[in-house]
Amino acid sequence: MQTMMLKNKNIILGVCGGIAAYKAVELLRLMTKAGANVRVVMTQSALEFVGETTFRVLSENEVCTGLFNTNEASVRHIEWASEADAVVIAPATANFVANMAHGMANDALTTMLLAVTCPVVVCPSMNTHMYENLALQRNIDIIEGDGAFVVEPGSGELACKTTGAGRLPEPELILDRLVAALTRKDLKGKKVLVTAGPTREAIDPVRYVSNHSSGKMGYAIAAAAEKRGGAVTLVTGPVNLEPPFAIEIVKVESALEMADAVLAHLDESDVVIKVAAVADYRPQDPKTSKIKKKDQAPGPKQNSLTLELVENPDILRLAGEKKRHQFLAGFAAETDDLEANALLKMEKKNLDMIAANLVGVEGSGFGSDYNKVKLFFRDGTVRDIPSMEKERVADALLDEIATRLT
Ligand code: PMT
Repeated sequence: MQTMMLKNKNIILGVCGGIAAYKAVELLRLMTKAGANVRVVMTQSALEFVGETTFRVLSENEVCTGLFNTNEASVRHIEWASEADAVVIAPATANFVANMAHGMANDALTTMLLAVTCPVVVCPSMNTHMYENLALQRNIDIIEGDGAFVVEPGSGELACKTTGAGRLPEPELILDRLVAALTRKDLKGKKVLVTAGPTREAIDPVRYVSNHSSGKMGYAIAAAAEKRGGAVTLVTGPVNLEPPFAIEIVKVESALEMADAVLAHLDESDVVIKVAAVADYRPQDPKTSKIKKKDQAPGPKQNSLTLELVENPDILRLAGEKKRHQFLAGFAAETDDLEANALLKMEKKNLDMIAANLVGVEGSGFGSDYNKVKLFFRDGTVRDIPSMEKERVADALLDEIATRLT
């Protein structure tokens, strides 16, 4: 997740009185770890659940708990509002959402909120029936209409022993939504199709041919594109990664399945970024039952096995042939002659951009959290992206693409 953007940002963390108030402590810790200056505002009911001291010590700032206290936080609450880069309310109670929806200024938190001009992220958390209550839903619609970013609560067993929606999302997810709220929406209105991960080509029901792609690069691009306002579809081979938030996920196994999924989404897409490491070949004749070791099979003993492979469709090349308005981008994974091979692939596949990266070296390519990429554009522009986290590579690459979209 792109948390570097929180460095030196002034964030107000509003904590309301719900059982999930304890999770706000972990959220505060994550925000300060990312370098944010966090100022905490607690309602009187929040103080019934978690002590002010915890927030004061972890934020290294006075905590605002009311309008008429004499500490600096209460005196400076309007200053805090005007200095804020973002506000996060977690947990937000039904009472808070109602007050916010109707512009009430009946405590320090709601008063401060009326004075902020920055993005506001609201994380409702309460009993399922309260959450589903029509009045609450109406109030959520109002605050969303007014521009707040509302993070839907998770589902599960709640503290009140009911099961359903109402759980405060995990702090990591709230942090992710905070980053999204602060991100420039330069892909708003664009449909972005990303592929990620390896493909698996069946040999028999228990074995396959594949490669070392972890999916990290493609998932980072999909997540970054969503934060920039894109409507993202991620066609993914089998990986061990959490799906990014608010993205349509299409799971596939083989290159043939990936081809079907990509071509089905091609027409509606504005941007296509093919990061997946597609197997160029597949076993010609995958067996329907497990291939037995030769010494268990009848007949003379043999100590070798030959697999006949046939070529898979080149999905990107097919997309290049069909492309009309789309911005089409590919990746070139090379072990040598990076530039020459990448340029050849851009030409052959009719791409607008190709990102060339070395594989089989430390700190780049397959599996690593880092990548070092060289971008080549059809218009001849070349951009070097030095070795950095794949999340940052994703942003640098999308910066370039976004400026080229009409
Ligand atoms: O997943 P990670 O562990 O994070 O690693 C990231 C990565 C190294 C996989 C990624 O950065 C990368 O380089 N992806 C492209 C891998 C690849 O298949 O490269 P290629 O040079 O063989 O293919 C060129 C392009 O054609 C790629 O965009 C590929 O998706 C596409 N292709 C290839 C073959 C095929 N049959 N169909 C395709 O669409």
